[in-house]
Amino acid sequence: MTDIAGKTAFVTGGASGLGFAMARSLAQRGARLMLADINESQLETAKKSLRDAGATVESIVCDVSKPNEVQAAADATIAAFGSVHIIVNNAGVALGGESGATSLKDWNWIVGINLMGVVHGIEAFLPLIKSHGEGGHIVNVASMAGHVASPTMAPYHATKFAVVGYSESLQAELAESNIGISVLCPAWVSTDIHKSSLGRPAMDQSEEEAMADPRFQEIKAVVEGGISANIVGDYVAECVEADRFYIFTHPEMKPFIDHRHHMIQKDYDVCARDERFNQNIPQG
Ligand SMILES: NC(=O)c1ccc[n+]([C@@H]2O[C@H](COP(=O)([O-])OP(=O)(O)OC[C@H]3O[C@@H](n4cnc5c(N)ncnc54)[C@H](O)[C@@H]3O)[C@@H](O)[C@H]2O)c1
Repeated sequence: MTDIAGKTAFVTGGASGLGFAMARSLAQRGARLMLADINESQLETAKKSLRDAGATVESIVCDVSKPNEVQAAADATIAAFGSVHIIVNNAGVALGGESGATSLKDWNWIVGINLMGVVHGIEAFLPLIKSHGEGGHIVNVASMAGHVASPTMAPYHATKFAVVGYSESLQAELAESNIGISVLCPAWVSTDIHKSSLGRPAMDQSEEEAMADPRFQEIKAVVEGGISANIVGDYVAECVEADRFYIFTHPEMKPFIDHRHHMIQKDYDVCARDERFNQNIPQG
């Protein structure tokens, strides 16, 4: 999408962090915004600050894990602006913990937001973008955690790998259309993501106890040491204009990506040398 000006963008998790930064950058390029978030007071503050900067902004309280609320947000976007061109499926949460000691309630919570939230956004908004024929763009927010995995973050990795795969499938599906798609894959960005699991339904300790946990403090420190959300927000808007699919922001992670690809190649080569599996490879 070469020209963002005058287009309407719907941004989930738009009240803070990366969502707010992307919304701000899209608005600076002339987009009209519908911000959606679960946090009503932060949403109001975000809307006011963007309006004060001259943007055209509406907002709606919306839990992306609930398809009826995302559909209501789509209806509200059309009611406010007539059409929609850009959707940023950004709302997301993080959850750590050892496998075997992570409750299914926690799994359902994170899958409902990080994966199904994206699905609900696509299912509600893609038909609306297709309907006007003017083209558009989808930004799905995954993570570097959707490409390389670390221990004790299995639910987060599982959802982010899923968002990368889902986005790759959508890219193939939309290849011949005038609707672009990007998948954002940052490593640490300085936001409030480390606090996102504090109010979750399966929380079995007080917020004070959770925040005193050394693991919480460790994650807080790396998040706060991350790059600025505004830098990422500006870069995403540039990538939408340039119609880039993968959006990476942390070049220092390349060795981890290379290592994963090497491990895949290594085991793939074992199968490729095994006569039981190579009967269909043309010989000669
Ligand atoms: N911060 C990082 O280091 C980092 C790195 C890679 C990817 N990400 C991804 O970026 C996205 C944004 O996270 P962030 O870092 O800005 O965190 P954040 O916590 O600062 O912002 C997330 C926003 O989403 C909202 N939200 C949470 N649950 C929601 C729900 N069910 N429905 C609607 N809104 C909801 C929150 O209220 C908040 O405003 C997430 O998908 C996250 O996984 C973050």
